[in-house]
Amino acid sequence: MLIQIPDMLSRETALALRARIIDAEWVDGNATSGPGSAMKKFNRQLPEESPAAQAAQQVVAQALGGNALFLSAALPHTIFPPLFNRYGEGETFGTHVDNAVRIHGGSGTRIRTDLSATLFLTDPEDYDGGELTIEGPFGQVSYKLPAGHMVLYPSSSLHRVTPVTRGERISCFFWMQSLVASAEARGMLFELDQSIQALTVRHGSTDAEVLRLTNVYHNLMRRWTQA
Ligand code: NI
Repeated sequence: MLIQIPDMLSRETALALRARIIDAEWVDGNATSGPGSAMKKFNRQLPEESPAAQAAQQVVAQALGGNALFLSAALPHTIFPPLFNRYGEGETFGTHVDNAVRIHGGSGTRIRTDLSATLFLTDPEDYDGGELTIEGPFGQVSYKLPAGHMVLYPSSSLHRVTPVTRGERISCFFWMQSLVASAEARGMLFELDQSIQALTVRHGSTDAEVLRLTNVYHNLMRRWTQA
């Protein structure tokens, strides 16, 4: 399931974030590569522990925690601290898979990567190329979203960033472990939750059928979550 989350950050906040990190010290993007990725990855990254990255991480983490669509779709258990990358002219990241398991920097625990996210911090007209292309059972889909918009996709997908041919693409990206490991189960819960929310608006939260469906949602969560 591919989910676009518009306005994860307002355009102003996204561009302000970009402006705040652009002059920080960036390093070779291979700092976080898994084996096999290094030969395909040509970009730069903000060092995870740098003050610039940590300040920016807080802005993103706060937005994630307050976004109902994101929470409904991802059902996050643990979110890997958001990272930031930039692709200048000629830079690219060839087709690759994200590591299945990563060490969570803060806690040192291992997290399973169920979902990957890219939050765009550059408006599409400011660069050419630099599309995020994702392959999966859904076919092949490319994203180049306005600053502040995010795409959520299964970490099990092959994906790439096509070469930037003009300008510079700066984005935030991160992984997360979901409470629900199965993408299929998570997708059904998302559909159900979205319908319940729409029905709640129409009929109120005390409506008997809304309550019944809400109960079903939570009972399915009990069945499927790995907390
Ligand atoms: Ni990746």
